[in-house]
Amino acid sequence: MRKTELVIFDLDGVLVHTEKYHYLTWSRLAEENGWKYDEAIADKVKGTSRLESLNTLLALNNLQEKYSQSEKEAFCEAKNRHYLSLLSFLGPDSATPGTLDILNFLRENQYKIAMASSSRNAQYIVEKLGIADYFSLILDGNEGFPSKPAPDIFLVCAKKSGVMPESCLVIEDSPAGIAAAKAAGMRFFYYSAFSETEECFSDLSIIKQNV
Ligand code: G6P
Ligand code: MG
Repeated sequence: MRKTELVIFDLDGVLVHTEKYHYLTWSRLAEENGWKYDEAIADKVKGTSRLESLNTLLALNNLQEKYSQSEKEAFCEAKNRHYLSLLSFLGPDSATPGTLDILNFLRENQYKIAMASSSRNAQYIVEKLGIADYFSLILDGNEGFPSKPAPDIFLVCAKKSGVMPESCLVIEDSPAGIAAAKAAGMRFFYYSAFSETEECFSDLSIIKQNV
C-alpha cells in the first residue's frame, strides 16, 4: 500500500500568497493602535486563527488584559474588512504556480485531497481560485476547532476522510501548522509560496516527489 492516502493542504501561504495581505492588514491595525508588529510576530501568528492571532499580538505587547471580548471582535472585524478589500484581485491566475498541476496529478492517481485552514475566508478564496471541486473535504476556521498548533483540525480531517493519521501528508508553510501536523502524527512537507523576502520552492508541483 502507498504511504500517502490523503494529502491535506493548508491554504494561506501554500495554495495562494495571501500571507502578504494578512501581514499588511495586521500591520495597519497595529499602527493605528500603537502596537508593535513585525516579521517575527507575523511568523508567530501565521497559521493561527484570527482571534488567536490578535491575542498573540496583544500578549507580545503586554496588552492581553486591556481589551474586552467585544473590543477584540471589533478589531478582528476591522482587520478582516481591510483584508477582504485587498483580495478583490483574486482569480484563477492567483493560485501558486503548479497548483493545478499537482491537484490534477493527485486526482488522476486516486489520492484523496482535503484542505485544513484556520481561515474563515477559506471557502471564499478557494471559490475565487476556482479549485473547490478538487477537495473532498474543506475544514476551515468556521468549524470552531482549537487553532493550530492544536492537531484537532488535521485529526478530524483524517477521520472524516476515513484515513489513518500516518497515511496523511500535510502541506504547510507555518510553524503553527507544522507543529499541528506533528502533533497529529502525520507526515508533513514544508512549502512556502513565493514571498518578497524568501523563495522556498517556486512551484507547488515539487510535492509530486514527496507523496
Ligand atoms: C491562516 C493564516 C493566518 C490567518 C488565519 C485566519 O491560518 O495563515 O495568517 O490569520 O488563517 O484567517 P482569516 O482569513 O480567518 O482572518
Ligand atoms: Mg499557511
